Amino acid sequence: MSDPRILAIESSCDETAAAIVRGFWVESSVVASQIEVHARFGGVVPELASRHHLGAVVPVVREAMKAAGVVELSELDGLAVTAGPGLVGALLVGVQMARGMAAVSRLPLFGVHHMEGHIVSAFLGDAVDGFRRAPEEFAPHVALLVSGGHTEIVHVAGFGDYTILGATRDDAAGEAYDKVAKLLGLGYPGGPVIDRLAAEGDPHAIDFPRAMTAKKHEFEFSFSGLKTAVLVHTERGGMPRSRAELTDLCASFQAAVVDVLTLKARRACRQLKLPRLHVVGGVSANRGLRARLEQIAEEDGIALRVPPLRYCGDNAAMIAAAAAARARVGQAPGVELFTSRAIDDPRVRVARGVES
Ligand code: KG4
Ligand code: ZN
Repeated sequence: MSDPRILAIESSCDETAAAIVRGFWVESSVVASQIEVHARFGGVVPELASRHHLGAVVPVVREAMKAAGVVELSELDGLAVTAGPGLVGALLVGVQMARGMAAVSRLPLFGVHHMEGHIVSAFLGDAVDGFRRAPEEFAPHVALLVSGGHTEIVHVAGFGDYTILGATRDDAAGEAYDKVAKLLGLGYPGGPVIDRLAAEGDPHAIDFPRAMTAKKHEFEFSFSGLKTAVLVHTERGGMPRSRAELTDLCASFQAAVVDVLTLKARRACRQLKLPRLHVVGGVSANRGLRARLEQIAEEDGIALRVPPLRYCGDNAAMIAAAAAARARVGQAPGVELFTSRAIDDPRVRVARGVES
């Protein structure tokens, strides 16, 4: 089967997104962010998110079609939508829009697990970055999923065959960034701003804890203690009084996060004797993390893959590409909301050894 051309909608959190993708090649990707809506609350307000998705979803889909030169839905092979995990009210806006489009067009509609979208994002290519699909497409690899809601190390045995090796016991890495940024009065989302400030600071200035690094914790994470350590630091010594103090604090916090993420990813590659690592999700945009990953990849001979920056955060291109891959392996279309947050939900699994 040639690569299907799919239009996807993503509305699981605070981004209303639509994209048209052929296989892994992105023809258009439109993301309407609600950051300004939620920033003053220091986090996503679910009710506001749903309302803003309602307003944005039609224009965003129209824009994605226009940018890809698609006039009629009949020019497509299928539709896709994020079917969870996420904020239910937000998800339903995208799901109902996609269902309506499927009803009028009679195109097949695929429900995609948001985290599978992130896994697939490592393969996306477009006119800016070029084609990134490698011959080893979906060869077994270790995936580090790091976003606002997830921190997991996953053994990807093939497309649709995911085993979680370990996850966070409390906060996700992105959540830790967001909470620390809120604490420091840096706004929402915290990742990009802390990343920028960290680049100017001294990562050794403050010795923040690296939790769960012992071998017995294997692939588990915990970031809530780190957040508390930042809080205690500011309670004892006061809030940073100068830009240098602020950048040192950010750099030290970031170093603690990056150390733990890279240590566990490296441990997984070694233990599974699988020198192939993909790092995906919003936090994979982090410059400090990318730099350290490149270092360990070089040292351990690991083939590293990270998505182009614009596909690290939530987008619909990754959802369309995951649906295209599902269509290619012969999966029947259908949308059922995923109740499980984790990528090892049995309904995500597809049989192995199918057409490549
Ligand atoms: O994947 P994503 O867009 O949404 C979820 O599925 O959660 O990830 C959003 C998260 C936020 O917590 C945000 O602070 C974090 O990714 N993030 C970053 C960076 N850019 C976004 N964290 C660290 N460094 C960054 N440069
Ligand atoms: Zn995400």
